[in-house]
Parts: sequence; structure tokens; C-alpha cells
Amino acid sequence: MEFDRLDMVDGLYPYLSKLAGPETGVMAEMEEYGRRRRFPIVGPILGRFLQQLAVVSGARRVLEIGSGYGYSAAWFLRAHPELHVICTDSSELNRERALEFLVRLGSADRVDFRVGDALQSAESAAGPFDIVFCDMDKSRYPDAFERTLPKLRSGGLFIADNVLWRGYAFADLPDNAPEFRKVMTPGIREFNRIAHQLPGVLTSIIPLRDGLSLSVKL
Ligand SMILES: C[S@@+](CC[C@H](N)C(=O)[O-])C[C@H]1O[C@@H](n2cnc3c(N)ncnc32)[C@H](O)[C@@H]1O
Repeated sequence: MEFDRLDMVDGLYPYLSKLAGPETGVMAEMEEYGRRRRFPIVGPILGRFLQQLAVVSGARRVLEIGSGYGYSAAWFLRAHPELHVICTDSSELNRERALEFLVRLGSADRVDFRVGDALQSAESAAGPFDIVFCDMDKSRYPDAFERTLPKLRSGGLFIADNVLWRGYAFADLPDNAPEFRKVMTPGIREFNRIAHQLPGVLTSIIPLRDGLSLSVKL
């Protein structure tokens, strides 16, 4: 059996969404684009939280690992008119869509979108960054953490999405679990363990949506 979302409390997410109000214009179109393609974007509740983290940390430079078509980047870009994002993704189509949307949002000039392996692209990006946001292939989260942590400034944030992984971060995987769950679960578990044990980093997990981890570089 696959776990349902970790909302657990009936009506919680509709309530949070209602409080925040619906997105309009280009952001609403981006959400609709994701819905139609069943593309896993962070969604408006988490997006709002990412924007908030960028505001409170005074971020100006963000590195995204796994940008899709630019939805999460669009939330970061809202945080400050001088905030810049380096986006990475393996798909040229995603880059094209992202730039179309970001041009219409008026923020494309603050985005450098690099196509190719996300970790290779990240490696060639000059730090320091205020925030690294990790939302790529989950089996590579430990690698992503290890390779991008040196690029964060002291006090910077490494943020990773889906770290509760619909419950499979801590619950046994049934034999009939989808193959991608089986393949990616060890990476999520290993990442969570390393992020909580590594000296020089302070990590906690916010059980919002599919779980968001925040690691501060001390
Ligand atoms: C969950 S989606 C990202 C969604 C985006 N962060 C958002 O919320 O708008 C994951 C993306 O990571 C990309 N990806 C996964 N593994 C990758 C890799 N090794 N190199 C580059 N891109 C990768 C996929 O192409 C996909 O677009």
C-alpha cells in the first residue's frame, strides 16, 4: 500500500490553501501546466515557505538542483528584486518552458538556467550561495549534499524536498511498492541520516507536504 500524503488531518491542506489564497496570472498557469502533465512541482504552500526562507535569510544567490520548468525558482525570485537563481535540469524542454514563464513574470534576467547533469552543472557554478535547493533524483541526495555544501556560505541553507518520501523514509517498503520508490528510498534515508549527523551542519525536517529538510551551515 502506498501512503497517502502526510497531511494526516482532514481539511488541513484545503485550509492552508484558502488562507494563502489562489495564485493568479502566470503562477496559476504554471500550476495548471504541472497539473496537466502530472509534473511534481513544490506547489503553492511549499513555494510560499521557500520564498519566506529566502526573505528571512536575506538570500541573494540561490542554486537549485532539479529546477523542472522554473516553478520553485519563481517563488525564490519573489523574495527580493536582487535575488538571482542558478537553475539546473537535464531537460532542454524544461529550460525553454521555464524561460517563457519567467520572461512573463519579469524575472528571467535574474536566472541562469543550465541544462545537463544537475550535479555537474552545480559543480561548475561559482559560490558562495545563500541557499541550495535540492529537488532532483532522490537517489542522489547524499551526493548532492556532499558536493554542494562547500558552495554554501557560512549560515547558508541547504534545503531538500521530499525527505519524508510519503512515509517510506521511516516505514518499511512493501514488496509491491513502485520501482522508483524502491530505487530512491535508500538515498533519502541516507541523506536524512548524514544531514542530521554531520558536524558543522544543523538539520531539522519540517513535515510540510512530503517533508522539507533545512540544514544550516554553521
Ligand atoms: C521534482 S522536479 C523539480 C521541480 C521544481 N523544483 C519545482 O518545484 O518547480 C525534478 C527535476 O529534476 C530533474 N532531474 C532529476 N535528476 C536530475 C539530474 N541528475 N540532473 C539534472 N536534472 C535532474 C528532472 O528533470 C526534473 O525536472
